[in-house]
Amino acid sequence: MKTWIRRFVNGRISRREFVERAATGSLGLAATMSVLGASAQAEQMERQKQRGKAQTRHHDPNQTNVNPYEEWLKSENLPVYRDYGISDARTIEVKPWKRLGAQGAYVDLVGGEGVNDAYVCEIASGLSTRPQRYLFEEIICFLSGAGESLIWNPGGPKQSVKWQAGSILAPPLNAWRQHINRGAGPARFVSVTNAPVVIDLFHSTDFVFNNDSVFRDRYDGEPGYFGADKDKLHHKETTLETSEIVRGVDTWDSGFVPDARRLGLFEVKERGVGNTRIELQLSDNTMQAHISEFAVGTYKKAHRHGPGSHVVMLNGRGYTLLWKGGIKYSEAQTQVRLDWAEGSLFVPPDGWFHQHFNAGGGPARYLAATWGGDGKWFMRALGGGGRTHRLGKTSIRKGGNLIEYEDEDPVIREIFSAELKKAGVKLRMPWAGGSEK
Ligand SMILES: [Fe+2]
Repeated sequence: MKTWIRRFVNGRISRREFVERAATGSLGLAATMSVLGASAQAEQMERQKQRGKAQTRHHDPNQTNVNPYEEWLKSENLPVYRDYGISDARTIEVKPWKRLGAQGAYVDLVGGEGVNDAYVCEIASGLSTRPQRYLFEEIICFLSGAGESLIWNPGGPKQSVKWQAGSILAPPLNAWRQHINRGAGPARFVSVTNAPVVIDLFHSTDFVFNNDSVFRDRYDGEPGYFGADKDKLHHKETTLETSEIVRGVDTWDSGFVPDARRLGLFEVKERGVGNTRIELQLSDNTMQAHISEFAVGTYKKAHRHGPGSHVVMLNGRGYTLLWKGGIKYSEAQTQVRLDWAEGSLFVPPDGWFHQHFNAGGGPARYLAATWGGDGKWFMRALGGGGRTHRLGKTSIRKGGNLIEYEDEDPVIREIFSAELKKAGVKLRMPWAGGSEK
């Protein structure tokens, strides 16, 4: 055998060098293809051998209640934030992240309850993350900086998506993704994922992170997949059986939202005075998302649902009350108040009532990434996320999970009025009789 053929088979010269030598040398096409085929097969066998090694694990009959996600978090070696919320994802401490070749932190909040989580990633100017793919979904919200993400299926074209602070991107399930910071300063994003439930189910990080499955039914490199043309917006007809919004659901159906702060919203009276909203169906994900905004001097109705609804504040200033117990906030066994502004992130715990208040001088808008909503897919499990979300727009008087203004604890309005007074903002809520004061 010629020396350079042996060197290629032994992995000492590249595939490209081998092909070049074969083309200029005496090796015929059939022989070249045969050597290349044998080499590819050997590489595959080596990969399988390495995977086998990685998966080899001694069975321990005394093992009890090991949580795969927690174990994986430890191996990522990053700070983990675990409260009810974080005040500003743009400024929390991040540390070097080997897997991504960037800086990062995990956010495993109380209300995530093991059904989903978030992570924060910061990329230095001019650098990029290492390409990643995995079997969990994610919804990325860019917080600062500007850049580009490359997304591709194996063998497919690399699609480029340009982003800035306020953009939302959902790389499709298990597609390759790489984020590049094209700006002068650091770029940071927060991503909500369903990694906890996926990692807990399989307890095999090799399966989750090195899986060759390509979900072409979700994404097949179609041009315009991450587009923002008008055809991404559509009005979906719904019924009482499929949604609480009988008049239909306005949906943005794309892998990308260029600017979540400027996306047009639609009035949804069921959720409160001055409340506007749009449903996001991102990259055919099972996880749902929506953007919601409430006007100056107003607050939304209290409601409750299953775990894992991550609320990312896009602008505005205000607070959210969360309580465990009955309708009356003042009598609840546990009360939590979270003050928020742009960059805040929080998750209402499973079945807790919660209520959002705009206490600032401008509109307040958030992105919510959740299991429920009016998207294409409906989850029966995960703490009743889907079912209870559906009833989050129905009054408790009708068996739902929403407290109408006239049923709420009077202390709610007292607190809000005092907050507005401090901020010098006029109250714009209807009183019990329905008139505005
Ligand atoms: Fe909620």
